[in-house]
Amino acid sequence: MGGPLMLWAALGICCWASSASGWSVNNFLVTGPKAYLTYTTSVALGAQSGIEECKFQFAWERWNCPENALQLSTHNRLRSATRETSFIHAISSAGVMYTITKNCSMGDFENCGCDESKNGKTGGHGWIWGGCSDNVEFGERISKLFVDSLEKGKDARALMNLHNNRAGRLAVRATMRRTCKCHGISGSCSIQTCWLQLADFREMGDYLKAKYDRALKIEMDKRRLRAGNSAEGRWTPTEAFLPSAEAELVFLEESPDYCARNSSLGVHGTEGRECLRGSRNASRWERRSCGRLCTECGLQVEERRAEATSSCNCKFQWCCTVKCDQCRQVVNRFYCARSPGSA
Ligand SMILES: *[C@@H]1O[C@H](CO)[C@@H](O)[C@H](O)[C@H]1NC(C)=O
Ligand SMILES: *[C@@H]1O[C@H](CO)[C@@H](O)[C@H](O)[C@H]1NC(C)=O
Ligand SMILES: *[C@@H]1O[C@H](CO)[C@@H](O)[C@H](O)[C@H]1NC(C)=O
Repeated sequence: MGGPLMLWAALGICCWASSASGWSVNNFLVTGPKAYLTYTTSVALGAQSGIEECKFQFAWERWNCPENALQLSTHNRLRSATRETSFIHAISSAGVMYTITKNCSMGDFENCGCDESKNGKTGGHGWIWGGCSDNVEFGERISKLFVDSLEKGKDARALMNLHNNRAGRLAVRATMRRTCKCHGISGSCSIQTCWLQLADFREMGDYLKAKYDRALKIEMDKRRLRAGNSAEGRWTPTEAFLPSAEAELVFLEESPDYCARNSSLGVHGTEGRECLRGSRNASRWERRSCGRLCTECGLQVEERRAEATSSCNCKFQWCCTVKCDQCRQVVNRFYCARSPGSA
């Protein structure tokens, strides 16, 4: 049990076990139904895969999914309600659902397996249901149980987080694919059996990143928002829970520009960050990273030369080894640096 809990703690996702009012995964595990202990490792792994995907998706953004932003619990002083918060909730919740669902298909748990409820039924023209459909319902339930329970608040922010947790789980469903196998005389494919399969996790990450780009801002009572703890105000959730918006990410507060360090907001700033320049295989978005991270933030791009070693001049030798030389190569890397003379 120590393992997964440590992992949750390391991820900063939970564990304010000592705070009196604080609910935590710790408490849950101690007081919660024994049965759920079965899932803790997988839940933690799922949350972690969500965080890793977040880091990948935001690698070349000003906000790059820093550790201190990864707190899903209510007891986080830095708890914000920005577009970025919405992504963290959605991807973590999706990660848990995804991992648990995969576990079921792999037969890792006794009480869940493939969804074979439709097997043998006609699905459409020329195909019938068959094989192992991923059982998302079970994964969804476990994800909801664990991730939603971290949210103890009753304010607008809590509603926002729960909404985005759900949007993350819907993303897992939305990106599922029908996969088929051909049958029939010598592969004629006159009949196919098909099953529903989870997408690659990366594909799901891309899908949620697109949702992040068009996340919806929920307008709240401005006076309440300004009074004391922002986002503490009441929020009539009708807007976010319109059926058309249920799969969308929602947020309450505009993001800072993430350029400058601001420790009270938990923002690291972009000074010192690496950016990409001149790499052929970089996407347009990556190639613009020096502008986005450095110059548009009032920093300059500093080139540093670094030596990299790699295998080269490899020769195949009979039989059967490959001999390579180690070649040294000077590579240029680019970083955001403060302009000389600026404070
Ligand atoms: C669930 O799947 C993950 C990999 O996706 C694996 O590391 C973990 O051990 C599995 N859980 C169980 C209980 O087998
Ligand atoms: C940090 O952000 C807060 C809230 O936007 C702002 O009031 C404060 O002035 C900022 N601090 C610094 C050092 O920029
Ligand atoms: C581009 O390719 C090189 C070598 O093929 C690799 O080391 C580098 O990480 C790639 N860059 C990106 C942004 O994918």
